[in-house]
Amino acid sequence: MDERQHNQIAKWERRWLALSGLMSLTFVILIAYNLATEGTHIAQRTTKASPEQILAQDIFQQPGVRQTGPGTIQVTTVARAFVFQPTDVTVPVDAEVEFILTAADVIHGYQIERTNVNVELIPGEVARLTYTFDDPGTYRITCNEYCGIGHHDMLGTITVLPASQWNALQAGDDVQAQTADDGAVDGAQVYAANCASCHQASGAGIPGAFPPVAGHASALVVDQGRDYLVELMLYGLQGAIEVDGASYDGVMPGWSQLADAQLAAVTNYIATEWDEGVLPDDFAPYDPSEFAEARGQDLSADDVYQRRNE
Ligand code: CUA
Repeated sequence: MDERQHNQIAKWERRWLALSGLMSLTFVILIAYNLATEGTHIAQRTTKASPEQILAQDIFQQPGVRQTGPGTIQVTTVARAFVFQPTDVTVPVDAEVEFILTAADVIHGYQIERTNVNVELIPGEVARLTYTFDDPGTYRITCNEYCGIGHHDMLGTITVLPASQWNALQAGDDVQAQTADDGAVDGAQVYAANCASCHQASGAGIPGAFPPVAGHASALVVDQGRDYLVELMLYGLQGAIEVDGASYDGVMPGWSQLADAQLAAVTNYIATEWDEGVLPDDFAPYDPSEFAEARGQDLSADDVYQRRNE
C-alpha cells in the first residue's frame, strides 16, 4: 500500500469516528430533552419486600381508585396471571393520578396506550408514578411482558371522565363501589370483564391451566354446599385439584374488590349458564347479602382449599 492510499483510508476512518461521536451526542441531547420537557422519567425503586408483605398492605388488599385530595387521585393495582385487579378504572380528566402498582406472581407489564406510562411490574417491588390525562376517553391497559398462557388476554381499561361526569359519579370515597352499586348488575358482563381471560368465554377453561366453570360451578354448589362458592369468590383458591380428569395446580385470586352485587351476579351466572340439570329445582339465586356476610372471615386461598377437601 503506498502512502497516498494509506492517507485516504485514514481520512475516511476519521470521518466515521466523528459521525459516530456526533450520533452519541445527539442521543444524549434527545434523552436530556425528554427528561426535562416531555415528562419522561427514570423508574425508581421505592419498596422492596416479599410479595406477601406487599400484598398484605391495605392499599393492595383493596386495590382501586381513591380520591386523595382536590385534583389528586390514587390508583392501586395488583397484576397477577392473567388479570389486572381492578380491571377497569375510572378517573377524572386533568387530575394528577398517582399509580401504585405491583405484581403478585411473575413479572407483568403495565402499558397505557396513547400515554408514556409503561412500567414493568416485579413481584416484591412497588412501582409508583404519576400521570395526568388531558383528554377524556377510554385507554387500554395491556400487559406487555410475556407472563404465561393467558398473557394475550391480560387487558384492562382506564376511563377518563370529563369533570362534570366525574363529579356526578362521586358521592363517596370509593369510586369503584359507586359504579358497581348503581342499578342491576349483569353477571355475564362481570364474567366477561374479570373471569373470561382465564376460564374462557365458553366457560370451558384451558385443560391443565384453568379449570372449566361450565358444568363445574353448578356441581360445586351441590357437592360442596352453596357457601363454598361464596368463599371461593371472595378469597380465591390455591392448591392441586382435579376436574373432569384433568389436574390443575394454579392460583385463583380472590375477588373481594368487586361489590357484593357483582359477586352475586357472576356466581349466579356461572352456576346457571352452563348447568345441565345438576342444580336442584329449588335452587335460590345467590344474594349479595351472602357475600356481605362472608366478608371479614379473613380466609386465605389455602383455607378455601382445605375446606374443599373436607
Ligand atoms: Cu401479564 Cu403478560
